[in-house]
Amino acid sequence: MHRRIIAPGALAAASVLLAIPASAASYTPGAQGIGDPYYPYYGNGGYDVSHYDLRLQYQPKTDELQGTATIVAKTTQDLSRFDLDFLLDVSEVRVNGVKAAFTTSGEHELVVTPKTPLPKGTPVTVVVRYSGVPSAKSAYGFTSWHRTPDGGVAANEPEAAWWWFPSNDHPTDKATYDVSVSVPDGTQAISNGTLQSTSSKLGWTRYTWRQNKPQATYLATLALGRFDITTGTSEGGVPVINAYSKDLGDNAGAARAGLERTGEIVDWLSGYFGPYPFSSAGGYVPNTTTGYALETQTRVYYSPRQFANGANTSLVVHELAHQWYGDYVSVKGWKDIWVNEGFARYAQWLWSEHEGEGTAQELADYVYASHPADDAFWTIAPGDPGPDNQFAGAVYDRGALAIQALRNEIGDDAFFAILKGWPKEHAYGNASVADFQRYAERVSGKPLAGLFDTWLFQPVKPAAPSARALVK
Ligand code: ARG
Ligand code: ZN
Repeated sequence: MHRRIIAPGALAAASVLLAIPASAASYTPGAQGIGDPYYPYYGNGGYDVSHYDLRLQYQPKTDELQGTATIVAKTTQDLSRFDLDFLLDVSEVRVNGVKAAFTTSGEHELVVTPKTPLPKGTPVTVVVRYSGVPSAKSAYGFTSWHRTPDGGVAANEPEAAWWWFPSNDHPTDKATYDVSVSVPDGTQAISNGTLQSTSSKLGWTRYTWRQNKPQATYLATLALGRFDITTGTSEGGVPVINAYSKDLGDNAGAARAGLERTGEIVDWLSGYFGPYPFSSAGGYVPNTTTGYALETQTRVYYSPRQFANGANTSLVVHELAHQWYGDYVSVKGWKDIWVNEGFARYAQWLWSEHEGEGTAQELADYVYASHPADDAFWTIAPGDPGPDNQFAGAVYDRGALAIQALRNEIGDDAFFAILKGWPKEHAYGNASVADFQRYAERVSGKPLAGLFDTWLFQPVKPAAPSARALVK
C-alpha cells in the first residue's frame, strides 16, 4: 500500500522522494463538471482557482490567438487527474513546473494528468501553452467568439471563456485576473478592470489589464480591434474607462451618448445598491452584429445596434445594475438567474421613474396587464426557468414584477434596506434564489414562502397582489 502522510507545501519534495502511482487508492480524478444541473459539464471538480494570468498575442488578420495561461489554484480533494474547460489547441501543460500528460474529451474538456498525484488542500500552479483560431471553434454547435472586420471579441453567457483561456468555467469559482495581450500597433486590446500599462516594440503593442476583485469566468471578456478609449472619473470617485470601435457608423454618436453616462449612472445606482464594488467601471462597443449586451465585470459588452434608437441609458442602467446583482454577487447555480436579471430589470424601472417616464408600479401594472392568463409568458418560472429559458423575457419582466410584489408586501423601508443590504451580505461571493428569500424574510420579519412561490415558481398568472389592485 502506498499511503503517505504529507505536510502541506511539501509536495515538490515528497514527489521526488516517493514515486506514488496515480492509482493510489485515495487519489481520484476530479469531476468533469462542477455539479450544476443545468449544465453538467460546466466547471470541474477537485480544485479551486484563485488567479488567472493570461499572456497572449493576437493577429487580427488571421484571428490567431496564442500564448500562455498560468492558473493559480488549490486542490480540494486527493487528485489524480483534473479537467479544464477549453477549446483551443494545447501544446504543453505543466503542473507545479513539471510537464503533464493531457488529452481532450467531450465538447470542451482538457484532461490533465499530472506526473505526480496532488494531495488535497495543496497549492497547484498549472501552465497551459496554446494557440488557435477562436472563430474556427464551436461547442454544442455554437460559438461565443464574435469575429469582427478588425479583430474579435469573447462575450457570452453562460459560456465565453472556452474560446480564449482554459478555466474552471463556473461562476462559483471566482478568481482575480491579469490579462496581457500583444496586438499589432494600431489595434487595441480591451479587457476587465484597470489598464495597468501599454508598451510598444517591434510593431506590436501590449495592453495589460488587471481585475483585482474576484470575477466569474463568464464575466471575463477580451476584445481586439481598433478602438477609441476614453477615461474619466465619476462624481463619486469611480474611475471610468470606455472603448468604442472606430467603425460604429451611424451608431457612433448614440453609443458615446449612452456609455459616457456610465459614471453618473454608477453613482445613481450606488444610492440603491451601496458603494460600487470594483476598481473601475465602463463598457465597450465593438463592431459586432450580435444583438445582446453582457455585464462583463467592470467593462460591459454592448452591441452597436442597441444604440440604433439613441443613447439607450436604460440598457446602460441594466448592465451597470448587474455589477452588483450578478458580478459582485453571482449565481450559485444557473437556475438562480432571477437574482441577476430580475434586479437588473427592476433597476431599469427605477431609472424610468427617475427620468419621469413611468413609475416602477406603473411598469409592473403594465407587464401584468399586457400578458393575459393564457400567455405562455406565465408558464416560465423565473425562479427556476430551465436552461432553455434562462434569458426568456419572463425571467426579466415577470422577475421584476415579482420584485414589485415583494415591495408591496413588505413596504418601502424593508424593501430598500434589502436592495442595499443584499450585495454586501454576499460580497464577492455567490447566492441563490432561496438565499434571497431567506434574507428578505430576515430583514422584513415576514414569512415570504407563499409570495415567492406565487410570483417566481407557479406556472400560472398570479392573482393581483392584495396590497394593491392592479389595473385591468
Ligand atoms: N445577462 C445578459 C443581459 O441581460 C444577457 C445575455 C444573454 N445571452 C445571450 N447569448 N443572448 O444583460
Ligand atoms: Zn441582464
